Amino acid sequence: MTLWGGRFNSGIDDAVFNLSRSVHFDWRLAPYDLRSSLAHTEVLEKNGIITVDLAAQLRKAIKQLQVEVKNGFFAPLPEDEDVHSALERGLKEKIGDLGGAIRAGRSRNDQVATDFRLYLIDHMIELSGELIKLEEAIIKLAQEYVEDIAPGFTHLQHAQPISFAHEIAKHAHALVRDISRIKDWLARSNFSPLGAGALAGSSLPLTPEESAKNLGFAGIVANSIDAVSDRDFAAEALFIMATIGIHLSRIGEEWCLLSSTEFGWAEIDDAFATGSSIMPQKKNPDVAELARGKAGRFIGNLTGLLAVLKGMPFAYNRDLQEDKEYVFDSVENLLLLIPPVTGMIATTKFNRAKMKTAAPLGFSLATEIADYLVKQGVPFSEAHEAAGACVKMCEVRGIALHELSDQELLNAHPKLNPSVRSALELEGAVKGRTAKNSASPASVKIQISNLEDALKKDLAWSSNERERFSGMMSQ
Ligand code: ARG
Repeated sequence: MTLWGGRFNSGIDDAVFNLSRSVHFDWRLAPYDLRSSLAHTEVLEKNGIITVDLAAQLRKAIKQLQVEVKNGFFAPLPEDEDVHSALERGLKEKIGDLGGAIRAGRSRNDQVATDFRLYLIDHMIELSGELIKLEEAIIKLAQEYVEDIAPGFTHLQHAQPISFAHEIAKHAHALVRDISRIKDWLARSNFSPLGAGALAGSSLPLTPEESAKNLGFAGIVANSIDAVSDRDFAAEALFIMATIGIHLSRIGEEWCLLSSTEFGWAEIDDAFATGSSIMPQKKNPDVAELARGKAGRFIGNLTGLLAVLKGMPFAYNRDLQEDKEYVFDSVENLLLLIPPVTGMIATTKFNRAKMKTAAPLGFSLATEIADYLVKQGVPFSEAHEAAGACVKMCEVRGIALHELSDQELLNAHPKLNPSVRSALELEGAVKGRTAKNSASPASVKIQISNLEDALKKDLAWSSNERERFSGMMSQ
């Protein structure tokens, strides 16, 4: 069924119908469409556009449909064009042609924009809940390894030793930013397009501020053309989801590397790994690999929507029907991906001894020699040169920095006394990095406790929003 046709002599060609049909994907909007129909009914009634009796009939039918959509009793038919037409058919099946009264002062243009915003608000809040659980798992894991020293890397080469918790916890900081992006996004996107009509608003005496309030929005979109044509809220949400995807991909890559035989630091729990159909010895990090691989689609979905939006003229154009699948795909894949990544992180065990043994390798304490000389008043460039000379001597003799003789140290720099060896002691070197954001166990402990505070606040925010939104949906 289509919602138009009065001016046409013939029905549309099947191929055109197939092209324009969207109900097979936009059916996901059904609960939001019904909820916004309830809000619209109230506005129509309050402003005397429909009678109290008709409003009651509409309300009853919409509420029945809400139940039937939920339990699958009412579903789209092949002849339904989109979610809006399918649900109008549902209304008419219940109360006859009176069901069409709900269309007054409303167009599918403002309707779809409203439904889509509600869908995204609901799912971005859900996403924040999943991110918080992931963050919790990361923080817990970090806490276990505060006192464990590991090599820190730059360029994938040993750089400087660190508390291993520092390495783990950095992922939680990225997620804190992601959640703050969702909060900002919500503040900017929580405005209602309903009442904008096709593009110019309605000549019926309606009060869209009321339906906005009824739907939990902070207000109405200020310009009715912008209300039906703007999809910044979807593009921004896709950017946030792509960024989350990139963060997950970086976790994925680290877990792949650290669980490889060459590293042998991470033991992924059996429940979060898979086997090989041909090589019985294999334990593969598929969760980590999918976390890495799915980033591709999150980025693709963002660039796909941006390309649809580029050059879009005036108000609504049918191009905008192409906005939804990108968003559904990112939302559904992230909600699929985050729980197993959380499980993998919560159950991974790291080999403390192996990490500690690896920590000083690759002359990762060479910066300590340079810093020691700087403390003696030597300019850093000269100190860097001397530390480099020490590394060179070690490489030639196949020894570690602390094994250089007193004379060799003096040869590298006259101010390089044997006391430098205390700076080359692993634990001491890591402990020395005392700034608030640095890699010593003491600093990392403070950072973790700050993360816990942020987590508590985010959890309170997310559950409040969850409650607010589901309260609105169940009215
Ligand atoms: N299915 C359409 C979409 O997703 C609904 C709006 C259609 N509006 C129109 N004027 N044909 O964009």
